[in-house]
Amino acid sequence: MNVTTSAPAAPLKPTIDTLSASQQEAIRRIPAHDGGQLPTPIADWLDPVIKKTRPASIFLDPARFDLEQRSVFRRLPVPLIPAALVPEPGNVVAHDGYGLSLLVARAKDGIVRVFYNACQHKGSKLIEDCAVHKAARLTCPYHSWTYGLDGRLLAAARPEVFKDFDKTQYALPQLPAREQAGVIWAILDPDVDPDWSGLDDGFADDMAHLGVPTAHVYGHQRFDLAANWKLVLEPFMESYHVTRLHASTIGDLFTDMASICTKLGPHQRKVAGKVQFKPSDVDIPGENIHKTVTHAYQIFPNGVMVTSPYYISLMILMPRAADRTLVDYYMLLPNKPDSEKAESIAARSYDLILKVFGNEDFRAARITHEGLASGGLKTVTYGGMENTIPTYYDQLEGHFLTNDPVVEHS
Ligand SMILES: [Fe+2]
Repeated sequence: MNVTTSAPAAPLKPTIDTLSASQQEAIRRIPAHDGGQLPTPIADWLDPVIKKTRPASIFLDPARFDLEQRSVFRRLPVPLIPAALVPEPGNVVAHDGYGLSLLVARAKDGIVRVFYNACQHKGSKLIEDCAVHKAARLTCPYHSWTYGLDGRLLAAARPEVFKDFDKTQYALPQLPAREQAGVIWAILDPDVDPDWSGLDDGFADDMAHLGVPTAHVYGHQRFDLAANWKLVLEPFMESYHVTRLHASTIGDLFTDMASICTKLGPHQRKVAGKVQFKPSDVDIPGENIHKTVTHAYQIFPNGVMVTSPYYISLMILMPRAADRTLVDYYMLLPNKPDSEKAESIAARSYDLILKVFGNEDFRAARITHEGLASGGLKTVTYGGMENTIPTYYDQLEGHFLTNDPVVEHS
C-alpha cells in the first residue's frame, strides 16, 4: 500500500518559522564562526569511537559491489524519483537508472505504483523514452495491448486469437513502492519481505517543511560518471572540501564550519552556517533562512538533498558497476517561475549548480576513483570534518547480509 505524505504548501519565503521544531532546534545549536578558527569543541570531531579509515577496495572490488547490490540496493527501499515529477493523476515516466526497465505511474486514484516496463504479451517496453507523460492508458507500441495506469490490462487486439484469454491474468507486475517524504521509493526485488521501517517520519517531516513534496521540478539532468557511487556521495557528506574544491565558484560563500548532525531514522541531516552566519540573525523577520544556513541530507542509502537560498537540489545516485554511477540531478523550486525575472534567476541557478556539481564534486569523484584504481594507496583516511562519512559507512555495512562470505568491515 502507498502512503501519501500530507505536506504543507512549499514555503515561498522560507524563514526559520517555516521550519520544523527539530530543524529550528538544530539551527539554534550552530556556533558562531570565529574568524576562521576551527570551531570548538574539536573533541567531537576527533571522536575515537568512529573508525576513521576504510580499505580502498570498498570502492574498487566487484565482489564488494555485488554485496552492496544484494544486501542494500535490491533489498531495501531505494529512491526512484521526486514525487513532484509525477504530481498529477495520469503522470507516468519510465525509469531505468538501476538497470531495470521500470515505469512509475500515478493513477486516477492518486496512488503511485511502480511496474516493470514490460508488456505482458511478449515483453516489449511500453514507454521507450524518459520523458514524463500524461496519459489515461498505456498502449504497447508492438501489438497495442493497452493497460490502465493501475496496471490492469484493459484491452488486447483481437483477443479471440488467444485461447481462453483472461485479461486479469496479464496485469503489469508491480514492485513494492511508496510515496514518502516527497520521494517515490521502491524495493527492486519483489521477492524480498518489504521492510519500510527506514522511511522515518522525522525525515518526512523535514522534507515537508522544506516543501519537497509540493515542489516544482525545474530541471533534471542525468550524469554518467566513471566513479564508484560512494566516491560520488562522499563530497555531499562533508564540508572539508567546500572552500577548497569550490574555490573558484561558491567557496567564498562558506567557511570551515561546525555542522550540527542529526540522525533521522537511517538518514542524516547536517545544518551549517555559511560564511556570513550570525546566530542572532536567524530571527530577523522575513529573513530567508537558506541564505545563511545550509541544510544537507544524506538520504539513506543513495540520495542527497541540499538547500540553496532559492532552490533545492535532490540527487539520486544509482550504482551500475564498481566504477560506474548514474546520477539523476533534480532542481526543485517552490513553484513554477511565473515571470521573466524568476525564470532568468532559475536558469542561472540551474547552470551554476550543474557546473559546481558536475565540474567540481563529480570531477573529484572521478579523479579519486582513478587515483585509487592505480593501487597507490591501500587505505583511505577520514578527518574530523568528514565524520559523517565513516558514520554512514558503519550504517551501510550494518545492512550487509551476515551469511555472506565476502563481508568486509576492516
Ligand atoms: Fe562540494
